[in-house]
Amino acid sequence: MYRDEDGTVHPVSAVCTHIGCLVDWNDGEQSWDCPCHGSRFDCDGEVLDGPANSALSTQQLE
Ligand code: FES
Repeated sequence: MYRDEDGTVHPVSAVCTHIGCLVDWNDGEQSWDCPCHGSRFDCDGEVLDGPANSALSTQQLE
């Protein structure tokens, strides 16, 4: 989960949509980066770089 400078929380699943590794928040780039194959996602989970081609889930996490 990422909280921006306005205090808005951006909840996204940490499960990469490629093959399911867990993404890590990259504070410098303000992105979610996957350590497995290098996919990157913005703070709302949209794909920045593949190989993943679909956004991180934003469904309510349980
Ligand atoms: S599992 Fe994330 S890039 Fe492959």
